[in-house]
Amino acid sequence: MILEQIATGGCQSYLIGCEDTSTAALIDPEISQIDHYLALAARDGLRIRYLIDTHTHADHFSATRQLARKLAVPVVMYRTSAAPFVDMRIGDGEMLMLGRLRLQVMHTPGHTSDSMCLQIEGSVFTGDTLLIGGTGRTDLPSGNPEALYDSLFQRLLKLDPSLRVFPAHDYKGRQSSTIGEEIASNPRLQKRDRAAFVDMMRELNLSMPTHVTEALRTNMSGGKSVAQLLAEAAARVPFISLAELKARVEAGDQDLIVLDVRERDAYESGHVPGARLLPRGQIELRVNQELPDPTRRILTCCELGQVSTLAAATLREMGFPHVVALDGGMKAWRAAAYPLNSGQEP
Ligand SMILES: [Fe+2]
Repeated sequence: MILEQIATGGCQSYLIGCEDTSTAALIDPEISQIDHYLALAARDGLRIRYLIDTHTHADHFSATRQLARKLAVPVVMYRTSAAPFVDMRIGDGEMLMLGRLRLQVMHTPGHTSDSMCLQIEGSVFTGDTLLIGGTGRTDLPSGNPEALYDSLFQRLLKLDPSLRVFPAHDYKGRQSSTIGEEIASNPRLQKRDRAAFVDMMRELNLSMPTHVTEALRTNMSGGKSVAQLLAEAAARVPFISLAELKARVEAGDQDLIVLDVRERDAYESGHVPGARLLPRGQIELRVNQELPDPTRRILTCCELGQVSTLAAATLREMGFPHVVALDGGMKAWRAAAYPLNSGQEP
């Protein structure tokens, strides 16, 4: 078995493949690592056939849907998963064929109701059911400490103690453990009485993960995160630097239209000399009057450089092929003490 472990912060994903057939599956991929996974699969001579989420993630952005479109292979999740884009719903005791390998599903609710562990040869991919020295939390949507107790003590921990455990998270840079090591030393597993375990889980009082609502929204719907929208827009737009814009303003460049896409009050309190105002929210409806010549060179700017990137991508999509965005925004422009005009332009 070929095994690649890819860490993104504390999130772990796994590329597992059959050497004989070059067939592979990707477990718990994260959205920012798409190119990395594809490059690893190519380097190892693997073809990804399945994209698997061990559960509905609340703390990172899953790449399964985007990769499924790119590779034309199925997204696999436990059969009760809420995500409508799951192509292959799989149940307890069922298997995926990975060339000569068999990937066996064990339903282990508790962290979420749709959590599953995946056993293959001498390894088990435990999602957030069992972590190294910990367990998944049970206080997020569909979490249930009683169910987690049963999944751990009635099922997962009864597997062969020598099985290697590969969790969906590790925040301390550890790669794997074994079932036996976890039974012996995982602090959460020392409460072997059901009621004591449930009380311990209820009293953890953990802070919410960052982006929890956005992660659940995108992972459950297949929609896009804000970072994804920005990255996609940035990939379609050229940029120019603050210093380059300053040089062009000072040189009196008449070719370039600087389009400030902030709201009027922000614009009037200080803008790039000569900039025109067209707030982001009005671009589509006012562009025909404001920018009648689509062949002009236009530069969008905003406060931080993000809204202007989206605006530039929109304008390109609308048929302005010479639009660029400012790398940075007016906040950085002011910090650099570059020239400003206030009020309206003549
Ligand atoms: Fe999770």
